[in-house]
Amino acid sequence: MKVTEAIKSRKSVRQFSDRPVSEQDLRDILETAKWAPSGGNLQPWKVQVLAGAPLQALVDDVRQKLMSNVQEEPEYHVYPPELTEPYRTRRRVVGQQLYELIGVPREDTPGKLRQLAKNFEFFGAPVGLFFVIDRQMEIGQFADMGMFMQNIMLLAREKGLHTCPQEAWARWPQTLIKHLDLPDNEMAFCGMALGYEDESAIINTLQSEREDFGTFITMNGF
Ligand SMILES: Cc1cc2nc3c(=O)[nH]c(=O)nc-3n(C[C@H](O)[C@H](O)[C@H](O)COP(=O)(O)O)c2cc1C
Repeated sequence: MKVTEAIKSRKSVRQFSDRPVSEQDLRDILETAKWAPSGGNLQPWKVQVLAGAPLQALVDDVRQKLMSNVQEEPEYHVYPPELTEPYRTRRRVVGQQLYELIGVPREDTPGKLRQLAKNFEFFGAPVGLFFVIDRQMEIGQFADMGMFMQNIMLLAREKGLHTCPQEAWARWPQTLIKHLDLPDNEMAFCGMALGYEDESAIINTLQSEREDFGTFITMNGF
């Protein structure tokens, strides 16, 4: 598979089939992904891979907490609280497109919350990954982590697998500290669902938009 094809066929899959993922495929992906660049070669990433019983224990724990209306202080703001344009609109548009696709009307807050809660089941994926970073790290190292995560998402495509990166897990820092046995100096920055796409799921037909070249690129000296 060419890099271009991997990039263009990657999408956030939000309903997975229950087809298991081979441990060897996962190991291959992670082994290759570690060749991501990082400032000063810090390699500021750690990964915890969950499947089977540990994954189910986490999913059950969060489900129980949601049913009891338990919430935690989020690890961080996923978005700036006062998000300005054009970002605000971009965020709204993709959300509207998603809910429209799955038939959840704008005013159906419980329906939206039910969809949000599917994050905490890894959208049915048999594998969940957590990207753990040392709390001392600065913005640059979060960028490094992003490159490492993108490597995983693209390598997954090469194996016919799909992914969904999940910052939604930032809502459950205490639960993750417990399940991942994290020391005080480490945080679970982001989750990721990984598995085979449920090709019959309408939610996976969501085609998110991108801005045109000229709106975000300035070419100088050409
Ligand atoms: C770091 C990061 C975190 C994300 N967190 C979530 C999430 O928690 N839940 C979710 O459904 N999608 C999440 N997404 C997926 C984005 O919504 C998605 O990438 C964006 O809408 C573009 O769509 P595409 O990935 O299908 O191209 C996340 C994406 C990134 C890069």
